[in-house]
Amino acid sequence: MKEKIRSLLKKRKAIMLVHNYQPPEIQDIADLCGDSLELSIRAAQTNAEIIVFCGVHFMAETASILSPYKTVLLPHKDAGCPMADMVTPEALKDKLDKLPPMPVVTYVNSTAAVKALSTICCTSANAIEVVNSLDAQEVLMVPDRNLAWYTASHTRKKVHVWNGYCPVHDLLTQEDVKKVKQIYPDAVFMAHPECRPEVLALADNVFSTSGMIRFARESKNRTFIVGTEVGLLYPLKKANPEKDFYPASGDMECPDMKKITLHDIVRSLELMEGEVKVPEEIQRPALKAVQRMVDLSL
Ligand code: 13P
Ligand code: SF4
Repeated sequence: MKEKIRSLLKKRKAIMLVHNYQPPEIQDIADLCGDSLELSIRAAQTNAEIIVFCGVHFMAETASILSPYKTVLLPHKDAGCPMADMVTPEALKDKLDKLPPMPVVTYVNSTAAVKALSTICCTSANAIEVVNSLDAQEVLMVPDRNLAWYTASHTRKKVHVWNGYCPVHDLLTQEDVKKVKQIYPDAVFMAHPECRPEVLALADNVFSTSGMIRFARESKNRTFIVGTEVGLLYPLKKANPEKDFYPASGDMECPDMKKITLHDIVRSLELMEGEVKVPEEIQRPALKAVQRMVDLSL
């Protein structure tokens, strides 16, 4: 099946972009595995005619926003992100009516329609840099309250917080982390900024998913507790076979990130099924916000 996918990709002049949380067998045949920022940058720069996106819907939409003349395929149509659905364009407009004018900084984990109303996008890898790049002294961050609180604690700007969250990261508690720390007292605890503030307070480092892979590679430590979706354990171990990684909680599995199978990828490439296309009236304004973030990160 893996060989079939690689030959279909070649035949179709397609590139396969894979998020770090995807199942191992999908990561193993990717052209690029990465975090949301790396995947967005690659989607903006590729010459391929077709992008097969193995991740969730907002990631395929972001690729379509950045490359509107390419075909973007999401091999499973139901792979969504509950956090992205926690802000709608209507609710955002209502909120903006009640606030003084200020930039809207939108986490890429959001719909294209929300991005279209935004000043700039951010990912977990660059949220602080994005907020600090703006002239304004106050910003509204949507939809992740945990990322917004984390950013607020690292900037002088006033951050207005939208009350959304990732159901996978938000369930991690201090008690979960303390239990694992008791078993591995010398381990470094790395946490994702989608975790709650009291959990981040226990973290030795806070990183995006690829940030964790890089840090573990460069660190002299041998043992790590990982405060993010459990799929990241696979690329962490692959990049650092001599080191040990333990999940902060075995419950941190994102069902949406596990929906795509090798079968789905074959079907999608054979039948050109699962195209994600952002309509032009949304793509144009959304591109401004996404491109502004990409330009800042290049
Ligand atoms: P990053 O890979 O950008 O850290 O994102 C985490 C995430 O939750 C994606 O859905
Ligand atoms: Fe969305 Fe959380 Fe799953 Fe990422 S891990 S896709 S933020 S629900």
